[in-house]
Parts: sequence; C-alpha cells; structure tokens
Amino acid sequence: MQYATSTSRIEAEEQPQVEAIGEHLLLEKRGHVAILTMNRPEKLNAMARNFWPDMREAFTRMESDPDIRAVVITGAGEKAFCAGGDIASFRELRTLLDKRSFQLDAMKTFYMVENSPLPVIAAVNGYALGGGCELTLACDIVLASDRAKFGMPEAALGLVPGYGVLRAPDIIGRQMTKMIVMAKLQIEASRALEIGLVQQVVPHDELMKTALDLAEEIARSSPIALEVGKKVINRGVESAEFDYAVEALTVLQASEDTDEGTRAFLERRAPVFRSRF
Ligand code: COA
Repeated sequence: MQYATSTSRIEAEEQPQVEAIGEHLLLEKRGHVAILTMNRPEKLNAMARNFWPDMREAFTRMESDPDIRAVVITGAGEKAFCAGGDIASFRELRTLLDKRSFQLDAMKTFYMVENSPLPVIAAVNGYALGGGCELTLACDIVLASDRAKFGMPEAALGLVPGYGVLRAPDIIGRQMTKMIVMAKLQIEASRALEIGLVQQVVPHDELMKTALDLAEEIARSSPIALEVGKKVINRGVESAEFDYAVEALTVLQASEDTDEGTRAFLERRAPVFRSRF
C-alpha cells in the first residue's frame, strides 16, 4: 500500500514515499536511500512470525529498484531497535516441522540481509536484543544511539541465537560472544563500540541524520564496486554452517527448556531449567 501517491513531479520529490510491507515494516524512499523501519513499538518491535517473509520481500523490492543504492534499518519508537523474535509466537510452533520452518525462515532472512548487493546500515535507536542484535550482525555498518543496548539473552529462554552464534565470533571474537550468549551480558553502546559490534555512537537525536548522511555518502559510490567489495569482505560464509545451525536449533527448540523459558518470560517469573526433552 502506497501512503504517498503524489502525481506531480514536484510533489513526488518533496513527499516521502512510504509503503507498508506486511503489518510491521515500513519502507520509505528518500532519493537513493531506502529507510526500512520495524514498526511494532508496543512490543518493542519484536519480530512476529510474518516478519521474516516480509523482511525478505522488502529486500527483494529494494534490490530490484535501480534508484535504491543504500539501506538504513531502524526501529519505530523511542525504546527499541528490536527486542528480538516474538517470544509469544515461539509457543505457537507446535511440531518439529513448525520449529524447523521457523529456524529456516529466520536464518534465510539474516542470510539475505548479509548477502544483499545493497549496502545496509543499522541505525540502532534502543534495545537490540536477540534477533534484533543478530540483525545488526547481518548489516554492513552499525550506528548506535547513545541509548542503545545490545544483548543475545536467548539462553534464558532455553534457546540459542542461531545466526548470532555463527556470525558474532568473526566480529567480536569467540570469548566476547560467549560472554554475551552464555552469561547474557547486556552491553551499552559505548562498550559495543569498544568491542567492534558498533562502528559509531552518536547522541540519540542525531542518529537518523548521521545514518542518512552516511547512506548518502555510500550511495555516491559505484554500486557494482560496493557490491564486489562487500562480497569479498564477507567471503567464507559456508552454507553448511547455516544448515547445521538450523538443524541443531530445531532440536533444541523442541526441548522442555524452551517451553519453560518462553512460558516463564510471558508469566514474568524466573525459569526452572531441567535440560529435558
Ligand atoms: N517477544 C514478544 N514480546 C516482547 C518481546 C519479545 N522478544 N520483548 C518485549 N516484548 C513485549 C513485552 O511482553 C511487553 O508486552 P505487554 O506490554 O503486552 O506485556 C512489551 O513488549 C514491552 O516490554 P516490557 O518487557 O514490558 O518492557 P521493559 O522495559 O520492562 O523491558 C526488555 C524491556 C527489552 C528488557 C524486555 O522486554 C525483554 O527482556 N524482552 C525480551 C528480550 C529477549 O529475550 N529477546 C530475545 C528473544 S528470542
């Protein structure tokens, strides 16, 4: 659905073109830059079941639009970039096949962002937890507001951040990844900058301007040069690793611990883990 349907050229230039993709994504074009906003602020932009295909649809559209040369991903509202996968929806994945299709959906989406020919900037405006943090790992450059917070606390839910455990070791090292994944360390933007999870921290109110300036600067370069550079920098992503993660996580997600962890979150109590299937 097009929000802006201006007919004259002047109007078209002045009015931002925003379209909704599914329920929780907004795609706005500003010149050569696309702004993709996760738009579910009442749930801290948690990724519902339809988020994954919608995100892939957004990338398909952006990649087939010759006007778009850079992408900025951000979250709606003041509090969160994205608080991760929708924990309530995990409980609707009844069969092993459902769980596997969810894992595949998420992994395929992160893979598509990481391998997009377009340069992708994350503008992290608040919490980036679980899948939200994993999404930043799939982006090319990460800018953070000084209010941003990063973490991958899935272990508390009896889960593992599948893409995060594959990708984060390359970016922040194995042991720092373990601090975040195993000890559920939540880190502030300034610390995220120190460990290389983020490339620049800016005052909250300057985040979008900084991200758009950076995206415009990138968009001035040759798209094919950017694509080739990105491919070579990202080399070595083995699809077998992704396949392994999908299978291992599907099995884990069928455990009593995942059931207990997600139930405890929704009931706002501490989980009791027994490591059983
Ligand atoms: N999935 C589903 N709903 C989520 C969510 C998630 N990942 N994260 C937040 N929400 C919902 C809350 O349930 C709450 O909904 P409600 O108002 O209908 O009860 C709403 O978003 C606001 O969150 P709330 O927890 O009340 O805000 P807070 O400021 O007290 O805490 C967080 C913020 C981010 C610390 C907390 O929401 C949290 O820990 N979220 C889960 C993070 C996580 O484990 N992510 C990995 C998921 S795989």
